[in-house]
Amino acid sequence: MNLRTNPPPIPFIDVAAQRRRLGSAIDAAVARVLNHCQFILGPEVRTFEADLAAFCGARHVVTCASGTDALVLALRAMGVGPGDAVICPSFTFCATAEVAALVGATPVFVDVDETTFNIDANRIAGAAATAREAGLRPKAVIPVDLFGLPADHGAIQAAAKAENLLILDDAAQSFGATCNNRRLGTFGQATATSFFPAKPLGCYGDGGAVMTDDDGLADALRSLRVHGQGSDKYDNIRIGLASRLDTIQAAILIEKLKIFPDEIEARSKSANRYSEGLGDVVAVPRVPAGYTSVWAQYTIRVAGGGRDALAAALKAEGVPTAIYYPIPLHRQQAYKHYPVGKGGVAVSDRLAAEVISLPMHAYLDVATQDRIIDATRRALRS
Ligand SMILES: Cc1ncc(COP(=O)(O)O)c(C=O)c1O
Repeated sequence: MNLRTNPPPIPFIDVAAQRRRLGSAIDAAVARVLNHCQFILGPEVRTFEADLAAFCGARHVVTCASGTDALVLALRAMGVGPGDAVICPSFTFCATAEVAALVGATPVFVDVDETTFNIDANRIAGAAATAREAGLRPKAVIPVDLFGLPADHGAIQAAAKAENLLILDDAAQSFGATCNNRRLGTFGQATATSFFPAKPLGCYGDGGAVMTDDDGLADALRSLRVHGQGSDKYDNIRIGLASRLDTIQAAILIEKLKIFPDEIEARSKSANRYSEGLGDVVAVPRVPAGYTSVWAQYTIRVAGGGRDALAAALKAEGVPTAIYYPIPLHRQQAYKHYPVGKGGVAVSDRLAAEVISLPMHAYLDVATQDRIIDATRRALRS
């Protein structure tokens, strides 16, 4: 009898593996919240904010309900609104530009760097000029630390200073990564991150945080996340939001943060194995000297139109892939009427046609990764 069993499907992100590792600690943490019943801004929220501040070196951490809200709250606290231009890359998740529009400002798209996929700081001045020509005040830039890798914060700070722009770093995918031995969280006036479950530091629902060294900004953020409250909750001094991190999610994140450095290390090992196994057959990601990545994604580039065939061949072998991002924002229905900065966005278009991400998480075992590498090599050769 010829019994041929298919190999088991591989998860793209294995959230359950981490759950198995942390199970009882998280169950106990959640049970503590269920017992004390302080579900909104309970003691775990303060503890987690302090833990996170110590981890990344920021003076203040203000948690909130999602990464998108973190960006909105930060823009509001920074006073960005109608008539203002917010410069951001086109090759990113939609939330980066969405938040500019949500506060009434205008996103202006700039291109990204061919090797890091992060904002090309040389294009910031051109985007500010485009904004001025359109009658807008260039007010802020939102660099994104894409796929786990910090943007070129030195060059961004220089460009922002020359144009008098505020910097809001979108570290939704890269919290924990470093740039010249400094963790993300202190580059620019504020940094936003996301605890969406698939993120390197994810919770069991939605969650986010803003980090800042600015005391005034931190005060405004704490007020804005509770309806713009003043000295108490029935004293309203600003128009705000209801955007708190649930106490249960904070309790979960306290436990997850304890193993986060270990998980970053595991992700890094997996990324290196991918690059060793694939670097001779396809364009693999490169981490510039002085940087570390938390590898939210491991993204390769397949030029010449072969990307979809690779995805199909891998799928047939039980290997899932994902395309982040198939359509750059300047081509999206909701965003295509917004200005594009001088020099255009050709790299963003090229990347959207060529990138493909392979399974990546902290619990990727060697045998599974070998299967992915072998299948990818086979598919690329045929
Ligand atoms: C670059 C970027 N910015 C912002 C966000 C928004 O985060 P959230 O999903 O927590 O609202 C995401 C989430 O995917 C993201 O990838």
